[in-house]
Amino acid sequence: MKIVSLAGSNRGEKGTSASLVNYLAQRLLKHGVSVASHYSIHMYRQPHRIDAFLNELKESELLIISAPIYVDLLPSPLIHVLEEIRDRMGPKGLEGRKLLAIIHSGYPEPQQRRPSLGMCRCFGREMSMEWWGGLSFGGTSPISGQPLEAMGGMTKGIRSVLDQTAEKAVKGGLTGVEALVLQDRSTIPVPPWMVRLMMNAMIRKDARKGGVKDLRARPFGV
Ligand SMILES: Cc1cc2nc3c(=O)[nH]c(=O)nc-3n(C[C@H](O)[C@H](O)[C@H](O)COP(=O)(O)O)c2cc1C
Repeated sequence: MKIVSLAGSNRGEKGTSASLVNYLAQRLLKHGVSVASHYSIHMYRQPHRIDAFLNELKESELLIISAPIYVDLLPSPLIHVLEEIRDRMGPKGLEGRKLLAIIHSGYPEPQQRRPSLGMCRCFGREMSMEWWGGLSFGGTSPISGQPLEAMGGMTKGIRSVLDQTAEKAVKGGLTGVEALVLQDRSTIPVPPWMVRLMMNAMIRKDARKGGVKDLRARPFGV
């Protein structure tokens, strides 16, 4: 099986998106499958690099997108590359190829990542690709581009999901996936409602320190 990955972080090889997809690539290699790595930020900055990516994509069976959430959505350079693929390959340009998405973010709640997973599935649909599901990971900021193993117990849940996904991918276990999200995990070992309380308390404290009187004040009075 030929696999191509597209890491969507603006930090390229140094981002957590790369850490996640590299871990999955190592697991796939154990099953005898190699993954060619690409980064949307490089293609965005040097548009000629997209040609090599498109050539590799044409030859591949599976595309893995690994991307963070920046201000509620996919990073703009990644959206640009996805639009380039669509415009240059046409709506049936990747017919029959498979698509797996790994979307991760700083906040733990799954709803942070759903719209971006939806965007990836929508891209796959437009390209006539087969959806192999989305993985959703929260609390990924502390990973900060380090190998997942280096984070110890903090990334245990994420690694377990990626281990299972590698095995399923090589055994064809992701065929016929209907669900948008296959699995959701957070590195933060407390429930999201407690994180919300803690973060609200932190923000109030910072606001008091910074002299902000009305936290509900809105720009332009709307
Ligand atoms: C500009 C910016 C905006 C972000 N916006 C969000 C957000 O809306 N929701 C969220 O949960 N995390 C947000 N984050 C946190 C990132 O998703 C998180 O740190 C992620 O691990 C970064 O991955 P990367 O190293 O692959 O870029 C944001 C980070 C940055 C730098």
